[in-house]
Amino acid sequence: MNSPVMQGLNLNTPSYVRNARLIAWVADMVALCKPDSVYWCDGSQEEYDRLCQQLVDAGTFKRLNPAKRANSYLACSDPSDVARVEDRTFICSQKKEDAGPTNNWMDPVEMRATLQPLFDGCMRGRTMYVVPFSMGPLGSPIAHIGIELSDSPYVAVNMKIMTRMGKAVYDVLGVDGAFVPCVHTVGAPLQPGQADVSWPCNPTKYIVHYPETREIWSYGSGYGGNALLGKKCFALRIASTMGRDQGWLAEHMLILGVTSPQGKKYHVAAAFPSACGKTNFAMLIPPKGFEGWKVTTIGDDIAWIKPHADGRLYAINPEAGYFGVAPGTNYKTNPNCMDSLKRDVIFTNVALTDDGDVWWEGMDGEPPAHAIDWQGKDWTPEIGKATGAKAAHPNARFTVAATNNPALDPAWDDPNGVAIDAFIFGGRRSTTVPLVTEARDWVEGVYMAATMGSETTAAATGQQGVVRRDPFAMLPFAGYNMSDYFQHWLDLGRKLQASGVKLPRIYTTNWFRKGEDGKFVWPGYGENMRVLKWMIDRIEGQAAGHDHVFGISPSYEELNWTGLDFSREQFERVMGIDKAAWQQELALHAELFDKLAYHLPAELTRNKAKIEQRLAA
Ligand code: OXD
Ligand code: MN
Repeated sequence: MNSPVMQGLNLNTPSYVRNARLIAWVADMVALCKPDSVYWCDGSQEEYDRLCQQLVDAGTFKRLNPAKRANSYLACSDPSDVARVEDRTFICSQKKEDAGPTNNWMDPVEMRATLQPLFDGCMRGRTMYVVPFSMGPLGSPIAHIGIELSDSPYVAVNMKIMTRMGKAVYDVLGVDGAFVPCVHTVGAPLQPGQADVSWPCNPTKYIVHYPETREIWSYGSGYGGNALLGKKCFALRIASTMGRDQGWLAEHMLILGVTSPQGKKYHVAAAFPSACGKTNFAMLIPPKGFEGWKVTTIGDDIAWIKPHADGRLYAINPEAGYFGVAPGTNYKTNPNCMDSLKRDVIFTNVALTDDGDVWWEGMDGEPPAHAIDWQGKDWTPEIGKATGAKAAHPNARFTVAATNNPALDPAWDDPNGVAIDAFIFGGRRSTTVPLVTEARDWVEGVYMAATMGSETTAAATGQQGVVRRDPFAMLPFAGYNMSDYFQHWLDLGRKLQASGVKLPRIYTTNWFRKGEDGKFVWPGYGENMRVLKWMIDRIEGQAAGHDHVFGISPSYEELNWTGLDFSREQFERVMGIDKAAWQQELALHAELFDKLAYHLPAELTRNKAKIEQRLAA
């Protein structure tokens, strides 16, 4: 047998690692990937600082001016490795139907045969980092453990911020505890004496999930959701299949707490498609007119939600940090986020200013007269204007610990999670969908979420305003057949209802309606508190709302307008329901349902028929 020990490589397994399955798996992966050495991360601050220094020495990191941004770094990626690669992401279930029409699928046997030669020797000349992490508070009944093997120290330090990473995970894992094995390589082995590059990666990329065996294999990318495998790969794609099998939910949702001036607290979980302001909503500061109200952050991207013995749904944020989009973040859109980023941050693909700080498009104040852009080139506002070159990549990111957030909820790390009072599903639509609508029942809410849409921007597709259906904001993240996922939501609702407790309310929102001038009508950001407050009024039975074709929405009088000049006419522009537009909209729902016809729950088609009848009436 070609065991690593026989090759002369010591696994260096620390004595506190006692899980036999883990040790055997690491040995197998070492035999396959053939790293030069194995390093078991302990998650300490000393280790983080040492690995960051190693990244500085390797040219991957630049240390930022400590007087401007203490203990912070900038990494600039290879220009070809800047975002998640949805077309290279695969759900390799045994049966194609179980991946469904919204996922790329390949037979697992074929995929394993494809990956085997790619992973064989993929870590030559590099160190394999063994990264133990808990998604969720250590030992929480809602949390689960993963182990990522990666040849990227950038991944190891990001995982320290984004997860509960370190030695203590092995105490929870014990000798026979379960973990999700995650293997990651940048796919750039080094020959003896070959110099490394600052951002190794491979033009060939595979982000692969085997749902039945709960494994993740990632090849060729060092970036974000492709490489930090606790996030989209585990916490959404694999966890959603675990949730289906075990009766819980893994969702692309922020979680926030809202506390009234009387001290009553509510918890809301909200799903918005990628790049629709989840981090901003999770860190919202209530505007004028809401004195005494407080919004606190539990999570900004992912929620794991399990039914509790009391019959209610309890949620945790499985992550421990924020991997957010930097461009567009400023003191108007998200003051709490800006304050979170003052120190201890890893920035990726933003611009470097001449005084050793960072800058991105949309930051407060004047652009710097000169900067080094994310590709290492000189950038000035004039160059930007003349060539359209961005100083920061539009998907440039910050990685920062949740504990840096001044609005962090005291219960963010509570192993029991928080009881959810309401779900929000927010699309991005310039027309048709009103600012806010409450579902009359669970099925209507699931229908709203299932048919949610998001308009593409010209920058992404060359076509402005094409509606991409993004059911539950989970299109790139559901680890199994989307119609089965709808069924799982319906089944869970039915089960909870049978236990006699009140289900969380379900809302759909749309902050993005535009006027004839092409400008957003709703001011958004902190002003979204006005909508949140109406939801709470509904929960408390203090707002009647009015019924319409697909739910219940507020009248103008039901929103608190103190401190905001927003006329009845403007309100009509964000709320109005246009019959013809809704007829077209339903034709698009029909298209979606045709695509998802296999296993599509009959309740959803019945709900669609009800909307059609109401529209025709
Ligand atoms: C993210 C995403 O990075 O949704 O959170 O793409
Ligand atoms: Mn996300």
